[in-house]
Order: sequence, then C-alpha cells, then structure tokens
Amino acid sequence: MVKRQAEAIKIDLQQFAVENAEQLEAFRMRFISKKSVVGELFGLMKDVAPESRKEFGMIVNEVKQAADNRFKELIEQLENTKGQTGEMLIDLTLPPVPNELGTIHPLSLVRNRIIEIFERMGFNVSEGPEIEDDWHNFTALNFPENHPAREMQDTFFIEKNPDIALRTHTSSVQVRVMENEKPPIRTLSPGRVYRNEAISARAHCFFHQVEGLYIDENVSFADLKQTLYHFAKELFGPETKVRFRPSFFPFTEPSAEMDISCDIDNPKGCQLCGGSKNICKGTGWVEIGGAGMVDPNVLENSGIDSEKYTGFAFGMGIERITMLKFQIRDLRLFSENDVRFLRQFTSANL
Ligand code: PHE
Repeated sequence: MVKRQAEAIKIDLQQFAVENAEQLEAFRMRFISKKSVVGELFGLMKDVAPESRKEFGMIVNEVKQAADNRFKELIEQLENTKGQTGEMLIDLTLPPVPNELGTIHPLSLVRNRIIEIFERMGFNVSEGPEIEDDWHNFTALNFPENHPAREMQDTFFIEKNPDIALRTHTSSVQVRVMENEKPPIRTLSPGRVYRNEAISARAHCFFHQVEGLYIDENVSFADLKQTLYHFAKELFGPETKVRFRPSFFPFTEPSAEMDISCDIDNPKGCQLCGGSKNICKGTGWVEIGGAGMVDPNVLENSGIDSEKYTGFAFGMGIERITMLKFQIRDLRLFSENDVRFLRQFTSANL
C-alpha cells in the first residue's frame, strides 16, 4: 500500500510547477515540512510491523529524497526566470536613469559659512541633544521653576516625564560644554530647536540656531561687540554696521538684542529688505539675535569660578539670517522639500 502512495506522491511532485515564491512555499508545505504528505508517511512508521520496517523506511526515504530534489530544482528554476519575466524585467536598451546630484540646503550653506567665520576666530564646534532635560534647557540657565521667563519659550514636553522637553534654544549646549570643559572656552553650537508656535510665514515649531560662548579671564562686553561686529561684516559685507539694544535673558547680564544695518540710504533700496523696507520696517535695522555677558549664576551652576572667569554668549537664528541673505519671505519653504526652491541655491555664493 505504501508503495502505491509513494508512487502517487512522486507523480504529484513532478507535476507541481511554481511561478513565484508563494507557490514555492506551497510546495514546501505540501511535500517537505513536518506536516507534509511525506512527513505523514514517516509518522506511520511506528505502526509498521518490525519485519516490514526496513522496506517501508527505504520507500519513504526515497520519496523524501525525490521531494528534496524537486524542491531544489524548483528554486533554481525560479531564480532563472527572474529577470526574464514580470517585475524583474530589465530592458537594457532603455536610457539610464540619471544620477542627479543634490544641492546643499540653504540653511546648511549659511550654517557652514557662520562656522567658518567663527572658526577663524578660534571657536570650535560643539553639539548637544535636541531632547533635553529641564536642567540644561532652563534651570541651569537661571530660569527658576514657574518663572514667567519660561513662557517666552513654550515647548513640547512629555506628559509622563515633564523633566524632558525638546530644547527651546541652543543655550542648553552652553551648560553642557561648561560642565565638561575648563576655560578658556570658545565654542559655537549650531543645531535645531523647538517651540510651541503656530506655523506661519514667520514662525515654525522647529528652527535652527547657532550659539556662541566665550569664557576666559577678563572677557568683557567690548569683546562681545567686536566679535559680533567682525562676524556681521564678514557675512553681510564690510559696510555693515551693528547695533546693540538693551534686552533681557535670564542667563545673561547685561543682555542685548543685536541688530545689523539694512543699508537704508542705498539709492537702490536697502539690501536686506530687497528695497521693500518690509523687513526693517523703514528703521534701517534688522534684529539677528540675542547676546550678553554670561550671568555669574550660570557659570557657578556649571562649575566655573565666577570670581575668576567672565564670558559672553550669543544666539542667532539661522533661518532669520538665511532669509535676510537670500531675501526669502516665507520660513515654511525651508522645510517643504520643494526642489524648485532648493535648486536655486546650487551656486549660491556666501
Ligand atoms: N537663547 C536665546 C534665545 O533663544 C538667545 C541668546 C543666546 C541670548 C545667548 C543671549 C545669549 O532667545
């Protein structure tokens, strides 16, 4: 009886054809796996009378061998037909898909240029995490808990653990650097920051900043002004003027807002506004960032002796500077990935 069954299975095996991986799997289930017809035959072995076992075994083994061989054959067949049929078809006469070169994102262009300018003044580059804890983003920077200054920088928190937030500014990296390094420190920290803002042409829930920090003995506000003045001239041209307006940040004292001149007297129209005066609002000045002398509390919070060392810090928005540089009017363009926008910077010269 088993002989006839074995013969029938062998015929089935040979007739089984496969065209794709699913059918191959069906073959495996039917003839190879434990629960296959061949597997079942092996299962019958224990009920066979001892004197017939040897013969039974031989027959079943033969079927198994035949199934394995056919399986290998089918795999090979399937491999060979790939490339000749269906999805794998390759038409070698078609022209190649061009390997298009991407372009550098305008924000990266400007960030790199800013880094270059400060590197020549001896600043190195440091980075910190975008998912930040309360200490580095707020508390160490002199934002006491429940202080209204925190409201200026509303961000995204995790409900489960309010100690963790998306950083609102790159000033958190100041703290991380000061905790880990000894003065003199001259570092630049570019990176992405987040705020809970409604998205519009002028605001987004994420943007980029670059932070600067300089700590040493006898660093003064004059150093801060001269450094940023040099930077502004390098980036916006030698005629650029800077202006510092008194301001407030919890982590700097005194604090200032920094403006650059908009060339308003230029008969061709002010350069930053593209002649429109929309950006400087007719004042001739455009704000590009905040700055100030690092508050002694912040130095002490990060383990630096505030009797011995002083320092300055500044923070600038990279989107803001890029918009001024290239007269871009809508912040959302930076994150829409529209190649018609991005390609315009292929040969941008900074
Ligand atoms: N972190 C401030 C902001 O995001 C900017 C700043 C940096 C101000 C460093 C002073 C010193 O608004």
